[in-house]
Amino acid sequence: MQRESISISERMKEEDSYLANVFQRYPIELVKGKGVYVYDSSNREYIDFMAGYGVALVGHCNDKVVNAIKTQAERFITCHCSCYNDVRLEFLKMLVSIAPKGLSRVFLCNSGAEACEAAIKIARKYTKRHGIVAAMNSFHGKTMGALSITYASKYRDPFKPLLEGVSFIPYGDADRLEELLSKNEASIGAVILEPIQGEGGINVPPDGYLARVRELCDRYGALLVLDEIQSGLGRTGRLWASEHWQVVPDIMCIAKGIAGGVPMGAVLARKDVMDALKIGEHSNTFGGNPLACAAAKATLECIIGDDLVGNSARMGRYMKDGLLALKDRHRVVRDVRGLGLMLGVELRFDVKDVLMDGISHGLLMLYSGRNVIRLLPPLLIDEDIVSKALSILDTLLAREEMRRGV
Ligand SMILES: Cc1ncc(COP(=O)(O)O)c(C=O)c1O
Repeated sequence: MQRESISISERMKEEDSYLANVFQRYPIELVKGKGVYVYDSSNREYIDFMAGYGVALVGHCNDKVVNAIKTQAERFITCHCSCYNDVRLEFLKMLVSIAPKGLSRVFLCNSGAEACEAAIKIARKYTKRHGIVAAMNSFHGKTMGALSITYASKYRDPFKPLLEGVSFIPYGDADRLEELLSKNEASIGAVILEPIQGEGGINVPPDGYLARVRELCDRYGALLVLDEIQSGLGRTGRLWASEHWQVVPDIMCIAKGIAGGVPMGAVLARKDVMDALKIGEHSNTFGGNPLACAAAKATLECIIGDDLVGNSARMGRYMKDGLLALKDRHRVVRDVRGLGLMLGVELRFDVKDVLMDGISHGLLMLYSGRNVIRLLPPLLIDEDIVSKALSILDTLLAREEMRRGV
């Protein structure tokens, strides 16, 4: 046992010696996963409420997704979008059939940041305006365009100059948006928002906010771009988080769990908006490859066919009630917020110790900023698993209170 744990820590050190040192790393070596559980190299089981940063919507190694990948891998893996492909067509049809009304054209790519990059170019080309409004505490990715609409200065400052013409407004404040749009009508082409902010602390906007943003975009001729990369595909108890407020964007970005863990991103837009891009003005090598499309089609079939959206709403309510009960019991908890299975627990202190303690108690969780524990479990969790996780969290919070002396 002693020797094994030494060799695991040596392997982690060795990986560190190769991999770019840009990730805040958790001291575990994960080697397999099934459903809600992942396992380390000592075969220790963890409840995974980290889910690869929200990717494992349909659980790890979901049977339907695994079978789709296996079948497709033996048939055809790569096919550039310059050629037609049967599986891509089936996936596109399915995606558009469940998309917000009117979003009938799709650009396929490989990640969230790439989807945001494409959205910026589409909006610029369609409106012929280069200005973009984004929100304080936003996160849209770390490539240069996506970084330009991401708020945190620790990510932005080392890489300036970024895109020109980006303004940040307080999230949830439609009056400030109106002021900005009315003064810059000729230059602002897009307002980009997360319907619920993920990295920024699980921030749910006030009711009526997104509807007013929609109305202001229409009035001032700006496109509304919604980044549903983290909040979409059932995560918040609706298929699209924008449905909570009946708002339909002009452009929508998705990624993370769309292909069950295989890299994929997508931008959906109205036909007239997407048609602003002409042949050659945007493209990539891997986007729309048959392997990812087969995995994505199987993932959508699970999300819709197994009613994971309904389960996310039900389990989300159950878990939030449990978290609110923990808040009543633990002074260290300042707030509990979120919708569906996109939940945040704000503590009065840095959450790092709780997350590390969680690992030793078999529960993996994420942070969102310094003070917020972010919970993004697979959508197929049941009451037993939620109860188990809540009971571990109860222990962790009690230990944190002991540590902090509160
Ligand atoms: C809302 C949102 N947008 C964009 C991104 C960037 O996605 P990726 O890491 O796939 O580039 C993320 C990633 O966490 C996200 O949460």
